[in-house]
Amino acid sequence: MAIEKVDLTPRIGSELKLDKATLLSGEHSQEIRRLLVDRGALVVRGLFLNDEELRTVARSLGDLRIGKSKRGSDGKVLNEGDEGILKVSLDPEVNPEYAKFLFGNLLWHMDGTYEEVPPFATLFTPVRLSEWGGDTMFASTYAAYEDLPAEEREWLETLRVMHTMQAALFPAKRDCTPEEFAVWCSYPQRSHPLVWQHKSGRKSLVLSTSAAYVEGMHTAESHDLLQRLMLHATQEKYVYRHVWQAGDLAMWDNTGAIHRAMPYEEGSKREFHRCTLNGEEPITAPTRVEQAA
Ligand code: OGA
Ligand code: MN
Repeated sequence: MAIEKVDLTPRIGSELKLDKATLLSGEHSQEIRRLLVDRGALVVRGLFLNDEELRTVARSLGDLRIGKSKRGSDGKVLNEGDEGILKVSLDPEVNPEYAKFLFGNLLWHMDGTYEEVPPFATLFTPVRLSEWGGDTMFASTYAAYEDLPAEEREWLETLRVMHTMQAALFPAKRDCTPEEFAVWCSYPQRSHPLVWQHKSGRKSLVLSTSAAYVEGMHTAESHDLLQRLMLHATQEKYVYRHVWQAGDLAMWDNTGAIHRAMPYEEGSKREFHRCTLNGEEPITAPTRVEQAA
């Protein structure tokens, strides 16, 4: 039987009406994967998944990323663990490593642009909500690409962009110390095509706050282009804004959608548990058809 689905906006985001037992059974995993890629972001309400259940759902959809555990002196797992659960929180008590970078999540981004093969998808469920704010927004980079004029699409397909951590984090913390900035600069950088032709044949824009510059382009022109494309891609018509309730599960396709957290109170105890699914294909530029002379 097909899953009952309610589209939340025309271009991105659907709510699936699924109960926990059905979701955990894995019987709909192929269809959920298809919908995830098709709709960019999926939401299921009222599930209240524990870590084990979150992992089970993640494994039914793809290759669960297993991180390296860091443990506190009490032996408690602090960050992305062998167990595949990443605790997303600004609270250093919860995740001291991640708290140093997490504020970058407030700007539109794609996860893992420093990797050759960025993650395929993320599953995200709240453990503690913020007192105010803290919605998560998703924007379809497939839709944004598809709506550009043909001539511009063709030109963009020839460009490559360098992604750096300092580009991602500086705009989110302009009062950083030189030492912090130096740490960001020490991370690996990665060049990717600006347009991704997926294995499916569909194309998307590869945009993120980590996009530092277009290779070979004048700095000023590159800055203007990346800003213009980001403003284009995050217009209301491409965006779904998720207002969290306890028990929600959200999943996003990290390859065809970008996301951000909306601001929330400083010192917040906001905490989400997250499973990441490993990527399945590198970002690949469209194949160019040579024009006959
Ligand atoms: C992330 C992320 C957004 C949020 O975990 O990668 O961007 O709303 N989270 O916390
Ligand atoms: Mn993110």
